[in-house]
Amino acid sequence: MSDKLALATQPTATRETGFDESQVPLYYSRKTADILHKYGPGPRVHFHLGLFDFTPNTTVPQHLIRRRILDSQEAVLEHAAASWGMAADPPSDLLDIGCGLGGGSIYWAQEHGCAVTGLTVTAEHIPVMTRLVRQASATELVTPVLGDAHELREEAAYDAAVAIESVVHMDRRRIFSVVARALREGGWFGLQDHFLCRPEVGGFVNDYYRTRLGTVSEYVWAAREAGFELERDEDITGPVSEFWVQSMAWTTGELDRELRTGTPSPIDRDRLRESALAHGKLFRIWRDHAVETRLLLFRLRAK
Ligand SMILES: C[S@@+](CC[C@H](N)C(=O)[O-])C[C@H]1O[C@@H](n2cnc3c(N)ncnc32)[C@H](O)[C@@H]1O
Repeated sequence: MSDKLALATQPTATRETGFDESQVPLYYSRKTADILHKYGPGPRVHFHLGLFDFTPNTTVPQHLIRRRILDSQEAVLEHAAASWGMAADPPSDLLDIGCGLGGGSIYWAQEHGCAVTGLTVTAEHIPVMTRLVRQASATELVTPVLGDAHELREEAAYDAAVAIESVVHMDRRRIFSVVARALREGGWFGLQDHFLCRPEVGGFVNDYYRTRLGTVSEYVWAAREAGFELERDEDITGPVSEFWVQSMAWTTGELDRELRTGTPSPIDRDRLRESALAHGKLFRIWRDHAVETRLLLFRLRAK
């Protein structure tokens, strides 16, 4: 763990919900190589849903699907940057909470000139992200840090924080409270996240992604308690639903390539099959708004 961040060392099990937080880094450790294979080679590698403004045909070569997926992932960051005022008034010091392989951290640094601290709880991400940051010539601006965001102990260290599909794994009361303390006066916290609208689908999604989906009002309540006001709430479920179709097409393309060429995918075949089946279900869940993806912007209330 870098000494740049002050992080306490409490145990990570969540008493009140029974959610086993130790499963999250285990899940992402196992997935690191798969994420690189599917969403790489980088240097900006993302693991989040992307924005589509139309429904492109999927009967195209697999490398074109991968390009499309990456473009859609960057499109949603560009959209968020405009919506959160990042483009007009970029924060000097930005905390990227749950930064994955650092695609977003590098994006905020390269496109908006922010000095970014990318925090992830998954140890396997750090050497990969360090290599990608170097490859992007962004070492001056992007610092990868290993640690549990719940244990953040910094005070007034950042102008803004972002969390792209990571708070869905976290305890909302704890995360909003530590982020409020880590921000400077007037600081803002932008999230892209998924929200449960029909409880009956929660079990499937939570088991598949080791998440703990909550409702928008649960987030807003936890944020208010920590001193934030909700400034923007944008539903992007419609334009991100297509991502599941494109991602499924990449996976079936991978299975097909294995069959045709005899060259095995580095991703386990059972995992590819499971993913293709799950994606059909996930698409319907998003299409029916049983789960919604939203961009939320919170700002610290004046003291
Ligand atoms: C869906 S990935 C998103 C990664 C990245 N934001 C992106 O958009 O590519 C979720 C990330 O959250 C991180 N994460 C989950 N729980 C965390 C925690 N308690 N503290 C820090 N990082 C966490 C995981 O390690 C993973 O990198």
